[in-house]
Amino acid sequence: MDKKVILTKKYIKEAVDQLERQFNLVIVEGSGKNLSRILTDHKDAEALIGFLSDTIDKDIIDLGENLKILANYAVGYNNIDIKYAVKKGLYVTHTPDVLTNATADLTMALILAVSRRIVESDLFLRRGEFKGWDANLLLGKELNGSVLGILGMGRIGQAVARRAVGFGLQVIYYSEPRTPEIERKYGYEFVSFKKLVERADIVSVHIPYTPAVHHLFNKDVFDRMKPGAIFINTARGPLMNEADLTEKLEKNESFGAGLDVYEFEPRVNEGLTKLKNAVLVPHIGSATYKARLGMASMTVNSVKQALSGQIPDHLIPELKK
Ligand code: GLV
Ligand code: GLV
Repeated sequence: MDKKVILTKKYIKEAVDQLERQFNLVIVEGSGKNLSRILTDHKDAEALIGFLSDTIDKDIIDLGENLKILANYAVGYNNIDIKYAVKKGLYVTHTPDVLTNATADLTMALILAVSRRIVESDLFLRRGEFKGWDANLLLGKELNGSVLGILGMGRIGQAVARRAVGFGLQVIYYSEPRTPEIERKYGYEFVSFKKLVERADIVSVHIPYTPAVHHLFNKDVFDRMKPGAIFINTARGPLMNEADLTEKLEKNESFGAGLDVYEFEPRVNEGLTKLKNAVLVPHIGSATYKARLGMASMTVNSVKQALSGQIPDHLIPELKK
């Protein structure tokens, strides 16, 4: 009898086919209560491939009595109770690298869209308001010579920095740990978080979410940013206080924001959706065919490795220590 693997949502067909060839694959729509029922019905499942929308807490982990691996289809894994999973001896894997370029591209797209008012311009034209070239029409901000503050110089932060240099942006960053080789090689300047917030024309966040950085970006931080600064979040919603950001954008029209993630996803602050100075996209950072195929293949490999007695290559950092 093939080993049972649960996939909580259908994903790219090539990967589903591979899983079906080797395992007894159960595809479900598994979030919230649904997931507990699924695990109760499939106590013999040995692997769970889940998504960032699946909350995998203590109860879920306890229900999966025979689980050996939780393969998360995302690079971030704040949807899983990692401490408990590790305590129970489960492998937890994620999908680094394959989505780095896609996410960095989207970050640049948001920076450009906010600074050049792309969405506002598009809507203006579609409303039929374009009556001819005008020297004062929809003036924006120029990237060349501006300062980009990157919080988190990991894989994605570095990929954003490389792109930013091409646009003439000066890169400053704060990261734990500091990355001196990258500083030397590319000339990025390391600054404190406080300096980063105060000096950057654009602040872009590329750190994982943990409770320790909940609401790291709040009223106080937004108020310390430059009046015409731009805040970009393609990382995780709860890193920011969305209500504070909305208020900042409402009060200060020259302040801008580009968001791919939201504090209470998929809910978005209603005030935000009314603002011209915010560009809002629905968590599509890794949404390229290439990245999603890479992510799916990585989960398939991780499951194969774990269920054949090997240590998976893409364990989360906490398990690599
Ligand atoms: C997407 O948000 C991811 O963490 O992969
Ligand atoms: C994620 O891939 C990161 O290290 O930024």
